[in-house]
Amino acid sequence: MSITFSESTKTFHLYNQEISYIMTVLPNGHMGQLFFGKRVHHREDFSYLYETAFRPMTSYVYEGDRSLSLEHVKQEYGVYGTTDYRRPAIEILQTDGSRICDFRYQRHVISKGKPSLPGLPATYTENEDEAETLCITLEDEVTGAVLELLYTIFARGGILARSARITNLGKESLHLTTAMSLCMDLPDCDYEWLQFSGAWARERHLKVRRLEQGILAVDSRRGNSSHEHNPFIVLKRPDASEFQGEVIGFSLIYSGNFLAQAEVDTHDTTRVLMGIHPMGFDWLLEKGESFQTPEAVMVYSGHGLNGMSQTFHRLYRKRLARGYWRDRARPILNNNWEATYFDFTEDRLVEIAGKAKECGVELFVLDDGWFGERSNDHAGLGDWVANPKRLSRGITGLAERIEGLGMKFGLWFEPEMVNKDSDLYRKHPDWILSTPGRTASHGRNQYVLDFSRKEVVDCIYGMMAKILGEAKVSYVKWDMNRSITECYSTALPPERQGEVFHRYILGVYDLYDRLNRNFPEVLFESCASGGGRFDPGILYYAPQGWASDDSDAVERLKIQYGTSFAYPISSIGSHVSVTPNHQVFRNTPLHTRANVAYFGTFGYELDLNKLTEEEQETVKEQIAFMKEYRELLQSGTFYRLLSPFEGNITCWMVVNEAQTEAVVGWYRTLSHVNMPYTRVRLHGLNPDFCYEDQNSRKSYYGDELMNIGLITSDGLSGQVEENTGEYGDFDSRVYVLKAIR
Ligand code: DGJ
Repeated sequence: MSITFSESTKTFHLYNQEISYIMTVLPNGHMGQLFFGKRVHHREDFSYLYETAFRPMTSYVYEGDRSLSLEHVKQEYGVYGTTDYRRPAIEILQTDGSRICDFRYQRHVISKGKPSLPGLPATYTENEDEAETLCITLEDEVTGAVLELLYTIFARGGILARSARITNLGKESLHLTTAMSLCMDLPDCDYEWLQFSGAWARERHLKVRRLEQGILAVDSRRGNSSHEHNPFIVLKRPDASEFQGEVIGFSLIYSGNFLAQAEVDTHDTTRVLMGIHPMGFDWLLEKGESFQTPEAVMVYSGHGLNGMSQTFHRLYRKRLARGYWRDRARPILNNNWEATYFDFTEDRLVEIAGKAKECGVELFVLDDGWFGERSNDHAGLGDWVANPKRLSRGITGLAERIEGLGMKFGLWFEPEMVNKDSDLYRKHPDWILSTPGRTASHGRNQYVLDFSRKEVVDCIYGMMAKILGEAKVSYVKWDMNRSITECYSTALPPERQGEVFHRYILGVYDLYDRLNRNFPEVLFESCASGGGRFDPGILYYAPQGWASDDSDAVERLKIQYGTSFAYPISSIGSHVSVTPNHQVFRNTPLHTRANVAYFGTFGYELDLNKLTEEEQETVKEQIAFMKEYRELLQSGTFYRLLSPFEGNITCWMVVNEAQTEAVVGWYRTLSHVNMPYTRVRLHGLNPDFCYEDQNSRKSYYGDELMNIGLITSDGLSGQVEENTGEYGDFDSRVYVLKAIR
């Protein structure tokens, strides 16, 4: 890996074994983009990549000179108002009312490793040789604003991390109204755009469209990254597939309002922008103040979508997620939410936990309803003290009873919210986000606490830390069940109201950070009504997240498949729940529910006492299976093989690093009469190793399994754990392959 600067041509070349990223200082001092893609040889002079042409109806920068129009050159951080009509990366409102800025190259610094971003989640290095960072400083002479563009290239993988920092070194205050994390001009538009969108309980469904002149965008203006759109997009060449071809993934390490868009201009250049949503954003920069944007990560893959995903998985698993749990196998848990909802007593919880323990579960999680006056969703949020009517010896007492069973204990919080019927709200009615003189809208009868205020975060931290300090709590599920409306903080002056959304997220990160630091062995699982804030920002603090409130196995195929494009399997919270399922009322076989949930963190969302004895025996086998293979499943290389968005059969697999073991998940949604023969070509195996199917005891070479395929239309040869009719709807199998020589 290397970052080089050619003094004579003012050109930067960032490269490793896989990628090259080339940019140059343009004739007017702005930064120009020359190339991003597969690695090319280094040369001093890449100026042939700087393309300009005479074009009618064009505005030019220099009088009497028709060579430079910003509209027609590829840039690194475009500005609006001076010959470029595309959406800008930055916009600054100045005291005289103008918005134009003119950032010109001044200097740069290349350093080893990667600096952290104050107050923000970001990828990191563990030693300096893992990455190099380039910081380019540009200045706008008129305002005195300084722009620092940060680029980190990692030694391994086609990864480039980017962010920007703006500092006001001028004499007057400035309003930053747009400050994107990434701006990237690609030379053509021959791409398909992939987005991961949906709704509550239908998150991260893959949607594909062709780029065309105009704008394609996904965003969130809800305060959370949202169920509707994920802060992640992919541009792939039309002929690229899961296994071959050029793909670029763009991911934003941020949990609040975002914008991700591609603008194709009239000459088929594509500008990708990604960062905090400019709508409603207005950050006052007083003299000497700085603003740091969140980090965006670009991954280039010449090996299709799986290649891109595997790079994201490695990076996010090893150099975004942190702490005690990063490399540890995740505990198999039993959560009481779908088992009891709000209707539980301490004894009932212990009864559920007791059966779970008997089946092999390691962690019992008490969900919503244990605190304040919470017996339904109208009261209690904000009062993080156990309800003595339900838990006579508080959380400490219950945790002791669970630990006494030989299990770990986990607890649900929703730290950012308050009900009006709570002591916290009665004491501090001004602590909610609401606009004076306007209706304060509720969501699920709750209001959003003003986390832009330190005293609010301090107070919630105090209550949570007391419980985590006193009771044996090994896991926290951090929920967030509504988006922000009437966003306004009574603690900030009018000219700073455009900062509230971002300050709110900084408050969330601050609380997470304090809890991480002071309770380093507690495993955090994020949740926002399921997958409403499943983003890389949160992954920095919570290495796993409840992927969706939809726990139906068939629905989960699409949700987990879509999630896997950016996020590692070890981050995907996935549980077995009852049938009929509580969200879609579908009946699926118990083995299929587990076969889907294995490809995630695994757990149960039900009362195991209510299963038949035969089913309980099956659960014991499932848990034993997960214990045996979770290391492989959660840390191996994941391949998507057949897509639920394209057909009736879904298939995916995980291979360990040594290529000696693989687990394949195969799922058929609907059954048909007289079905065709089916084979699935596997990937990632060693062609010369001979693998034994642990169920059928038949063995095949890796090249057979990859070039001919695994025959999946072989009736009972798969792992069928329950006699539900192996040819019925919602059938599935898990194949375990082990190298035998
Ligand atoms: C929404 C979460 O996604 C559920 O799992 C559960 O924790 C409920 N909130 C509790 O209110």
